[in-house]
Amino acid sequence: MEHKSIAIDGPSGAGKSTMAKRLARELGFIYVDTGAIYRTLGLFALSRGVDPSDGEGVKALLPAVSISMNYGSDGLQHMYLGGGVDREDVTESIRTPEVSDAASKVSAIPAVRDFLMDMQREMAKKHSVVMDGRDIGTVVLPKADVKIFLTASPEERARRRYAELKQRGIVETYETVLADIEERDARDSGRAAAPLKQAQDALRVDTTGISMEESFQLLLQTVQEHMV
Ligand code: DC
Repeated sequence: MEHKSIAIDGPSGAGKSTMAKRLARELGFIYVDTGAIYRTLGLFALSRGVDPSDGEGVKALLPAVSISMNYGSDGLQHMYLGGGVDREDVTESIRTPEVSDAASKVSAIPAVRDFLMDMQREMAKKHSVVMDGRDIGTVVLPKADVKIFLTASPEERARRRYAELKQRGIVETYETVLADIEERDARDSGRAAAPLKQAQDALRVDTTGISMEESFQLLLQTVQEHMV
């Protein structure tokens, strides 16, 4: 059977993962969170005491890293570091602001992007997927059946991220969250290697000022209209 793929790209905090996850459930596809893969590598660099923005240092780590993923009975994408029985489930620990920052830094390194490419493409070869990231429609799956560019203003994204962090007991001010988002936007869009940008044939879904539920209905409708 020919597998279908839906690419969802956009800046951090646009609601990609929440909505991609729900869309995948609705369509019976697998949800692939590619940011989690970069985060896992970012965590690995931090754990080895390597500066995530040190291109040569991170490149030297690649032969030693073993990243894998699977889907729990909860449908959640679990990320692992290390091989065999000693592998560590890092699904939770990659969700801190330090790891967000490290992921954004390692993801700007071309050798890192090449290293992680196969893992992402393999998923789309084996399954029908909703895959979210920054370069899915432009680089990873240029022939995706539907490409979405999901976005919202930086202030709206900061408000949502602030509320989410607060709920998880992580203390940050709104101003810090907004500054982090703006810094990551600039880095993700400004880098030379596979920068965040809207693919020419991507459909733009802007969720500024609308609820998560309204955003999801807009996304679902857009996908249904364009999926052949
Ligand atoms: O989506 P996220 O916040 O979990 O992603 C973490 C970082 O990884 C983000 O700053 C950009 C990077 N990333 C990327 O460069 N390409 C992807 N396909 C996914 C994430």
